[in-house]
Amino acid sequence: MKVRTLSMVAALVAASLNVAKADTLRMECAPTGAGKEFCDYVKDRFETQTGHTLEFIEFPPSSDEKLGLFQQLFAARDGNAVDLFQADTVWVGLLDRHTLDLTEQVAELEADFFPGAWQNNIVNGRVKAVPAFLDSGALYYRQDLLEKYGEQPPASWEELTRIATRIQEGERAAGHRNFWGLVFQGKSYEGLTCNALEWVASHGGGDFVDSDGQVTIDNARAARALDMAAGWVGTIAPQGALGYMEEEARAVFQNGGALFMRNWPYAYVLAQADNSPVKGKVGVMPLPSGAEGESVAALGGWQWSVSAYSKNPEAAVALLKIVSDAEAQKKALQLVGVAPSRVALYEDPEVLAMAPYLAEFRDIFANARPRPATQTRGQYARVSNAIYNATYNVLSGRSSGEQAVADLQSRLERIKGKDWR
Ligand code: GLC
Repeated sequence: MKVRTLSMVAALVAASLNVAKADTLRMECAPTGAGKEFCDYVKDRFETQTGHTLEFIEFPPSSDEKLGLFQQLFAARDGNAVDLFQADTVWVGLLDRHTLDLTEQVAELEADFFPGAWQNNIVNGRVKAVPAFLDSGALYYRQDLLEKYGEQPPASWEELTRIATRIQEGERAAGHRNFWGLVFQGKSYEGLTCNALEWVASHGGGDFVDSDGQVTIDNARAARALDMAAGWVGTIAPQGALGYMEEEARAVFQNGGALFMRNWPYAYVLAQADNSPVKGKVGVMPLPSGAEGESVAALGGWQWSVSAYSKNPEAAVALLKIVSDAEAQKKALQLVGVAPSRVALYEDPEVLAMAPYLAEFRDIFANARPRPATQTRGQYARVSNAIYNATYNVLSGRSSGEQAVADLQSRLERIKGKDWR
């Protein structure tokens, strides 16, 4: 009896100490639209489990702008800025110095995640992040319109161009004045590097920098791929696509304004949602192949990382474990459409009922092509900047494909110097 009373007192003291130590943690979460429901769900679980408070911060939507902001925040070593955040697949190495080493804390999670995604986050033998969701480029199409015109989903870019031209003309003649054949991400930013990689590599033009670190972009196939994309602008794709990121492209497609769209998996759940004008009319497939080439999807994805300056790393890791568990990943799929990074969820009946197309994506993920981030080491941000600027110059008619790949070759060689570091 006495022992029991003592342990109760100890528990009460511990509880009050915990309350006294309650901290406020900050997590990246965009509290808008469906995202808000996801943020609230996480907040509820975290606060109930730990007694701490969770606040959200929103970052710019573009990957490269976001990276710039994180680099500034981390340079100031501000422990109050952010505790848990998402790092793009291509930046885990770049942010190495500023993120917590999670090797011990997350060791038991490894077997549950896709091995490729897990490996991406190991820097110098240490686990620096946990995969939040998988991404790879895919082609969306309007099933109803292909049927109306007796066309099949396109296997090559050439076919895509032909079908898009034909159906765009047909729909415009039928009174849909603003209808476009294709939308993609043509703004000068990280997303354009992904689109450019898909065009160039699918034409057999390489990956800009090969796995040994050699710059390979100055070749005729790469030039041809960029010229092909430039030929779409103002014909089957709106001039405005030169300002599109993912959400702008999705807005046009989801409102019924385009036949084809290049985008990431999240767009599927949203396009098929009850409030979507194209609900039930959308198909998704691997991206088309280039002439004499193959279908190539850029590998994307985001990773949960803890700031090395967090004032309460233990609570931040507890939060990371909540957002990384199977229940949270299902919630994220349901609300924001992002594809799970946990293997078992691809066989989970609830997941398959909610997102049957994930079976298709699983193969696309397995073969997705990484951007040249690993081999270019600390220089990747500059490398990508050079790639999307060169691509943008071709899309906007300022440069021919041939000129652009020659210029990009020397630019990348200059960034490389003696070697990537
Ligand atoms: C997606 C991808 C990410 C990529 C970005 C480009 O968010 O997951 O890897 O950098 O798109 O816009």
